[in-house]
Amino acid sequence: MSDLRETYLKAIAEATDEAALEGLRVRALGKKGEISLALRELGRMSAEERREAGPRLNALRDEITSALAARKAALADAALDERLRGEWLDVTLPARPRRQGSIHPVSQVTEEVTAIFADMGFAVAEGPQIESDWYNFDALNIPGHHPARAEMDTFYIHRAAGDDRPPHVLRTHTSPVQIRAMQAQGAPIRVIAPGRVYRADYDQTHTPMFHQVEGLAVDRDISMANLKWVLEEFVKAFFEVDHVDLRFRASHFPFTEPSAEVDIRCSWEGGTLKVGEGDDWLEILGSGMVHPHVLRAGGIDPEEWQGFAFGMGIDRIAMLKYGIPDLRAFFDSDLRWLRHYGFAALDVPTLHGGLSR
Ligand code: PHE
Repeated sequence: MSDLRETYLKAIAEATDEAALEGLRVRALGKKGEISLALRELGRMSAEERREAGPRLNALRDEITSALAARKAALADAALDERLRGEWLDVTLPARPRRQGSIHPVSQVTEEVTAIFADMGFAVAEGPQIESDWYNFDALNIPGHHPARAEMDTFYIHRAAGDDRPPHVLRTHTSPVQIRAMQAQGAPIRVIAPGRVYRADYDQTHTPMFHQVEGLAVDRDISMANLKWVLEEFVKAFFEVDHVDLRFRASHFPFTEPSAEVDIRCSWEGGTLKVGEGDDWLEILGSGMVHPHVLRAGGIDPEEWQGFAFGMGIDRIAMLKYGIPDLRAFFDSDLRWLRHYGFAALDVPTLHGGLSR
């Protein structure tokens, strides 16, 4: 019996995986295992023999059982150690700047705009880029025959002949998100909606895909004065200056009444764009008081609520702030351009830390 003990303890100590341990367990303690059989023999022994052999065999069974368990735990520990050594990572190492990509000016400016409006209590809303023509036009008080549909150079989604599902478009502006946000949240509401928009247009300041940020504030007593204050605060924070020249021009949009377009003073001298000086004006946004039809389409009662809305070109203000003369280069994916105009990936714009560094 002491042979049995030594053989098994040695084999257990030498086992290198769980399968080997399981084999040993079956051989010793399984139904037909050596120790199990010996225990069964006890029944055939005399009382005296049993008194001597019983406790010894039981002790052996317990010893083998705990040896198996201890070896199993040791193997698991060793496996974990091995894995931890292999997966070790020094999280205190600094990032490697030379291997880092850069943040595109559009992403950077979107973050800056979001930080500024978040500070004024605006949440971020979203909508789809492939939009039904109801959200893109009808709900915004642009009926089927309205010239604005043609003016916007809309991309229509192709429908096979006989497919009479309602038409869809690539959204021509972020304004349909006004409707979606009002339907989802009701009034009062304060949201911005940054995102991609599409129009068939291409020159130094137009690309077929570009970016806008929509703004919408609806409450019981919101006025044009609130709109003007919010926009002036925004422009000063965005350009990080105490004074910028803004020009509010009376205008017309079907979804606002009254409406105003806002231009910013700039110069293009020598092909470089400068803000705050010169005799040129660059239009950066359209705005106005939300039309009652639009509030109603959003499920909000215009007898009780009123608000302002604006839509601003993100790429435009990126060009202005960072002196980038040609919009088309934004979307060429030229690495030299991206390295020149891109931002460090770890500099997240915040109002307290600085928008742009
Ligand atoms: N949607 C308009 C555009 O794309 C901008 C706008 C938004 C104007 C909201 C007024 C109010 O030109």
